[in-house]
Amino acid sequence: MMRQPLRRGLWVMAAAMMVAATSLAVYAGSEGAAQESAWDGVFTEDQATRGQKTYQQECASCHLDDLLGDGIAPPLVGVPFSFRWSELSVGDMFMAIRTTMPQGAPASLSVAGYVDIVAYLLKANEFPAGDTELPTEEDALQEIIIDEMP
Ligand code: HEC
Repeated sequence: MMRQPLRRGLWVMAAAMMVAATSLAVYAGSEGAAQESAWDGVFTEDQATRGQKTYQQECASCHLDDLLGDGIAPPLVGVPFSFRWSELSVGDMFMAIRTTMPQGAPASLSVAGYVDIVAYLLKANEFPAGDTELPTEEDALQEIIIDEMP
């Protein structure tokens, strides 16, 4: 009976060590990845224009043409945008939109369609266009960080 607490203690210690090892691995992983800033021209004008068209068809009924939302659907520009996405990645935004929007029909657009909309949202939030399109691979999108304006 006396051994019970000791054994539980060892388990707790082993579990804690595993958690520490895992978070170290995660840290090393993100450290190793070459991160990019969303300010580096990560989408093209054409892509944002395509995204705008899709947005108008699929999203504007709730979030409105000016992206300011209608009271229930939140604004997708300005302070609410920075507040929600600051320091997260373009991949985080892509995943959140793809898994929940359009409301009632998540994941109903093509991956490229969602990526184009993300390009449009970046443009609408004053991020500059560049020479290469946003990629459609989630891993690559995860490496682009929506950081503060440099
Ligand atoms: C039928 C109305 C409707 C449509 C269409 C719609 N949304 Fe939404 N959207 C909402 C509502 C309501 C919320 C707030 C509740 C929620 O987050 O689920 C929301 C939330 C969001 C958010 C915030 C999510 C978060 O994690 O903070 C984003 C971004 C967004 N919508 C983008 C889009 C995009 C892009 C489209 C088009 C592909 C779209 N929405 C279509 C109603 C809609």
